[in-house]
Amino acid sequence: MAPLPHPRFRAMSILLTVAALAAAAGCARSDAGGRGAKDAGKVVVACGATEEWCAAMTDRFTEATGVEAEFVRLSSGETVARLQAGKANPEFDVWHGGPADGFVAAGEQGLLDPYVSANAAAISDRYKDPSGTWTGVYVGVLGFCNNSRILAEKKVSAPRSWQDLLSPGLGKNVGLAHPSTSGTAYTMLWSQVALHGGDAGAALEYMRRLHPNVLQYSKSGIAPAQQAARGEVGVGVIFSHDCVATQEQGFKDLTVTFPAEGTGYEVGGVALVRGAHNSTSARRYVDWALTPAAQEIGPSVKSYQVPTNPRAKVSEKSVDLRTVKLVDYDVAAAGRAKKDLTKRFDAEVAQAPKS
Ligand code: F6P
Repeated sequence: MAPLPHPRFRAMSILLTVAALAAAAGCARSDAGGRGAKDAGKVVVACGATEEWCAAMTDRFTEATGVEAEFVRLSSGETVARLQAGKANPEFDVWHGGPADGFVAAGEQGLLDPYVSANAAAISDRYKDPSGTWTGVYVGVLGFCNNSRILAEKKVSAPRSWQDLLSPGLGKNVGLAHPSTSGTAYTMLWSQVALHGGDAGAALEYMRRLHPNVLQYSKSGIAPAQQAARGEVGVGVIFSHDCVATQEQGFKDLTVTFPAEGTGYEVGGVALVRGAHNSTSARRYVDWALTPAAQEIGPSVKSYQVPTNPRAKVSEKSVDLRTVKLVDYDVAAAGRAKKDLTKRFDAEVAQAPKS
């Protein structure tokens, strides 16, 4: 008979067995969450950032892990609609990118599986949901993307406040997306709620006053940068990093300003889709997206959001969060209000006739 190992090693081996059983139980639970499906060693990402960034992220994830990855670029509201439509048989494993209030809205509808990655420990509490419904991967600040040539022709100065944006000189010259589809535009709408002391009615009243200045409500939040670049509007209300990226494409007439009253910001999230077919690979994707290496990919493809991992290098082209006045943006409240507020926006603002 083989001699019994030293008690210290026995204890360790019992601990290891317990750990292995716990891990297996965890897997069993996650498979149950994943409809019992086997992980196919790939991950399908609903991706809310730019096409270039989504492509770079998925390619580099595959290089780092050997796990195949594909993505579909979707605006925030589109993602929630697609997750809802695929609830019984999800087409995505991970949602990556897009303002966190959209993730809160999706979580409310039971579309996400909470997951607290070990790598989330490095991320500030300001940038993550404590129960792991979403974890922040970047921060972006809403600003005005101005075409200085168009504004000079109109003899209007670049707006430096939300009040300036209402100038009659900007009639049909403001680009803004629709908050039902665009997370950018919802950030703008909720910023008004925050600036009006939480009064949704007053925020919608501001949007009604702005309505005659809006050329059209586009589907994606980045579209107003293109409209401003082409001179179709004098000002686009977008995340400032998207204006900087468009300037870099050669549109030198573009300038960025921020509203003095305070502006909204996004925490771009990452989360697991509930019932994902590839839930193990999805967890690996979330783990990886929180690392400094993954968060340093953005600037290589002109995505200048601020990383949430403090160990990631920050591009000098990223906005300095200390220099912009930010509103008190309650992500959880914004997410819970999203369904009703966007419905109200559509009925009470977007469909109103323009004089
Ligand atoms: O650059 C892409 C980006 O602005 C992200 O920072 C943001 O999360 C996302 O697009 C929002 O997209 P949309 O407004 O189309 O939902």
